[in-house]
Amino acid sequence: MILGGGTAGWMTASYLGKALGDDVTVTVLEAPSIPRIGVGEATVPNLQRVLFDFLGLPEEEWMRECNASFKMGIKFVNWRTGGRGSAQPRAFGDDTDHFYHLFGLLPNHEQLPLSQYWAAKKLAGQTDETFAYACYREPPILDAKLSPRSMEGEQWTNYAWHFDANLVAAFLRRFAVNKQGVRHVEDEMTEVLLDQRGYITGLRTKGGLTLEGDLFVDCSGFRGLLINQAMREPFLDMGDYLLNDRAVATQVPNNDEELGVEPYTSSIAMSSGWTWKIPMLGRFGTGYVYSSRFAGQDEATEEFCNLWNLDPSETPLNHVRFRVGRNRRAWVRNCVSIGLSSCFLEPLESTGIYFITAAIYQLAKHFPDKGFDQVLVDRFNREIEIMFDDSRDFIQAHFSFSPRDDTPFWKANKQLALSPDITEKIAMYRAGLAVNMPVTDENTYYSNFEAEFRNFWNNSNYYCIFAGLGFDPDRAPSVLAHRPDMKAGAEPIFAGIKERQRELLESLPSTHDYLRRLHGK
Ligand code: TRP
Repeated sequence: MILGGGTAGWMTASYLGKALGDDVTVTVLEAPSIPRIGVGEATVPNLQRVLFDFLGLPEEEWMRECNASFKMGIKFVNWRTGGRGSAQPRAFGDDTDHFYHLFGLLPNHEQLPLSQYWAAKKLAGQTDETFAYACYREPPILDAKLSPRSMEGEQWTNYAWHFDANLVAAFLRRFAVNKQGVRHVEDEMTEVLLDQRGYITGLRTKGGLTLEGDLFVDCSGFRGLLINQAMREPFLDMGDYLLNDRAVATQVPNNDEELGVEPYTSSIAMSSGWTWKIPMLGRFGTGYVYSSRFAGQDEATEEFCNLWNLDPSETPLNHVRFRVGRNRRAWVRNCVSIGLSSCFLEPLESTGIYFITAAIYQLAKHFPDKGFDQVLVDRFNREIEIMFDDSRDFIQAHFSFSPRDDTPFWKANKQLALSPDITEKIAMYRAGLAVNMPVTDENTYYSNFEAEFRNFWNNSNYYCIFAGLGFDPDRAPSVLAHRPDMKAGAEPIFAGIKERQRELLESLPSTHDYLRRLHGK
């Protein structure tokens, strides 16, 4: 039994419908009167392999149905200086600073990632190129808004997607119901029935039904109707790590013809938080994520509307309050929470849909029988805990190491304590060590979800963000001082990247042209 028909509910239903075969009946109870929360969403590349490939859904098919566009990474704007010269700079003016967090692959040379060679050069004063432009093929391609596929459809880099999550939920609902035999009940839950042990036995509905089941998945959103209310599992608030707890969001029409379509998410630093920009064909979704401790709703709305030149009285604005943190246990007795009912982080690193995908994958892997072996439950909970806490720490580090201290919000972020775990990783980074090398080589990283999951935030991610923010390591690996041949051997790799950047710039179509053809527009 799945309670809730949002993105989490329909992703879970379609996945379990496939993973468990025909003798398990999957039912989704969806209240048509409760609105879905998702609008513009950004994802990570494993979504195709872990979810859509598993379901047998080709990328082009679901992309067309869901008005999806490409995302090759995240562009962080104004995170270093706030934009010189003015208190509220324009989003993409001459006074902005930026860096990229990329999905592309960082090459290795003699067992060391190229980032370590870049650091050695930088610290020796042998390069003034920034990390991403020196070590990745992608940055000039993102600057030029070119496509991650050639016109012939050939893919040259890893990418993820932007889409309207409501369209994805509706698409997966059709797929789950028509192709996977999932039962869809449109009704509202009124009561949770429990046995003496506290296990859920059924859900009563407004329409007078009693829906019985063995395993109950809570996809009811922030309210956590099953996990927090019926099971009384506490939600651990992580406001000590992350200050943002509100958002104001809207959609803005985009003149694609004139401006093109950016193949990346943008995160624009603001005075009390940051604004996302998620381009799709013809429009972009955007929202200011802010801290209610540092900005009131009116103040945030004004700063947000100024950024895009919107008139607040004529713009449909969506105000969202969110809880930051996770359930103490995601799975309690026969109730598993997935999606917003389980955990939530501000969307700075596009973890929302990833957390759902990962939880579904782990649920299928740890799927119980009616005995509910505690080992399965405990292992599942541990995986979710590590996944969440690592991501929380990584996101907190963005605010910690941003050089900005021009407003009370940015100052306050520097006063927050970091967890012991990330403190150790930061020490490793400073010392010139790679933090979490992908366990497989970088080229197979994205084709092995188990390996990616274990190393979700790895050396490449730390370098993109830390070096991007201007926080360089203190030292390069000392082996590079002893082995000038290793440093020399990396030079052709740096040169090859420059060469490839030029070739790609000359040959790739614009993202706008590619998407227009894909969507038949
Ligand atoms: N392992 C993740 C990936 O490459 C890390 C990640 C999450 C990431 N969100 C991101 C990388 C945004 C770049 C940009 O998919």
